[in-house]
Amino acid sequence: MSPRKLARAGVPMSASSRGLEGVVIGRSAITLVEGETGGLAYRGFRIAELVPGAPYESVIHLLLWGEPPSEQPPSRLSRELAGRRSLPRRLESLVDSVSPGLPPLEALRTMISAMGDGSFGYPPTVEQVFDLIARTPTMLTRYVRRSAGERAVAPRADLGHVANYLYMLEGVVPDPRKVRALEGYFVLLADHGMNASTFALRVVLSTNSDLVSAATAGLAALKGPLHGGAPAKVSDMLDGVGTPENAEKWIAQALARKERLMGFGHRAYKVEDPRAVILKQIAGEVADPARLALAERVESVALDALERQRAGRRLYTNVEYYGAVVLESVGLPRDLFTPTFALARTAGWGAHALEQAAENRLIRPDVEYVGPAPGRRWPERSAGAPPH
Ligand code: ACO
Repeated sequence: MSPRKLARAGVPMSASSRGLEGVVIGRSAITLVEGETGGLAYRGFRIAELVPGAPYESVIHLLLWGEPPSEQPPSRLSRELAGRRSLPRRLESLVDSVSPGLPPLEALRTMISAMGDGSFGYPPTVEQVFDLIARTPTMLTRYVRRSAGERAVAPRADLGHVANYLYMLEGVVPDPRKVRALEGYFVLLADHGMNASTFALRVVLSTNSDLVSAATAGLAALKGPLHGGAPAKVSDMLDGVGTPENAEKWIAQALARKERLMGFGHRAYKVEDPRAVILKQIAGEVADPARLALAERVESVALDALERQRAGRRLYTNVEYYGAVVLESVGLPRDLFTPTFALARTAGWGAHALEQAAENRLIRPDVEYVGPAPGRRWPERSAGAPPH
């Protein structure tokens, strides 16, 4: 008997799960997250197999079609993306009409939503996914540059996806070391199972709504500091600590104020986030040694303090911690950290959108009602009260 039928028959429904913790909401063949052991694999390929080395375009191919491309990077897919980087005039004017000076994340949410012109119907297509992946960096960088009073830099078709993002942002062909580091970040952040933003995207698509609406919902969910909004706060925390010698005092005071330490803890991982392990290695290659030493000291002090003060909670370093150090090191300003996370995640969103549509069923869970029992009487209207 279904839970609903059981409830109708007067049998109490099973206990609800706050935050859907531990609830399996469906099936997916895209990404395996092994929270207890710290495993993460895309289509069966562990992330350590992909980073360093796999171009982001190859990982897009893997996520969308389940197989690695026959050449690295895949020339057809790379051409498809490069060919879609330039914005149609309508989108250029739309980007230019967004008020300058907004936090780029706010602007990005508006701009992704503005991609919807009625042409993104249901079901989502691979071409629409390519548009989403290819155009978001162009919209974001155009907005950021214009906001700073600079001319937009047109995309270059001869650069890879990640190199072209940095190029459009800075107006110069980026240092290959920076590109390699950011490429690793993009690959590691490309997908992560049923995280909050992907779930939001799949809920929207399950109503037979379109990809752009679903991606807007995804970004809205990604934005919060309990999900993708944390990395800039990690950098703020490192600035706040200032020196390795100050770490003990700063962390103790923050925990005494009952603050959460940004970049630690994860709903899925009860061990170190495997992405953090690789991002730390990448940081080792590109970060300023003093900044890295500070980050390592703060991490070690924070882990000790969390172990002592939040015993049993199993709080370890998450992706955002060394993600922030890598993003800083490639020269991105803090207000671009979460937007950059979102750009990387468009690949995973696209793969999940196609998978959701391929075997769609409306996502519509139940809730355990805990309000008053039905049957209450509405108060009599007093004789002189005016009708509404
Ligand atoms: N610092 C201090 N205490 C923490 C932290 C932290 N970073 N994270 C969790 N806790 C504590 C909570 O206060 C709670 O304690 P309590 O039971 O005494 O109230 C306990 O650990 C469990 O926390 P929950 O919020 O129930 O854990 P949940 O699985 O819901 O949260 C989350 C995971 C949101 C990531 C949390 O660990 C957190 O807020 N971390 C800091 C923000 C952060 O790093 N966000 C990025 C996450 S990675 C990503 O989404 C890409």
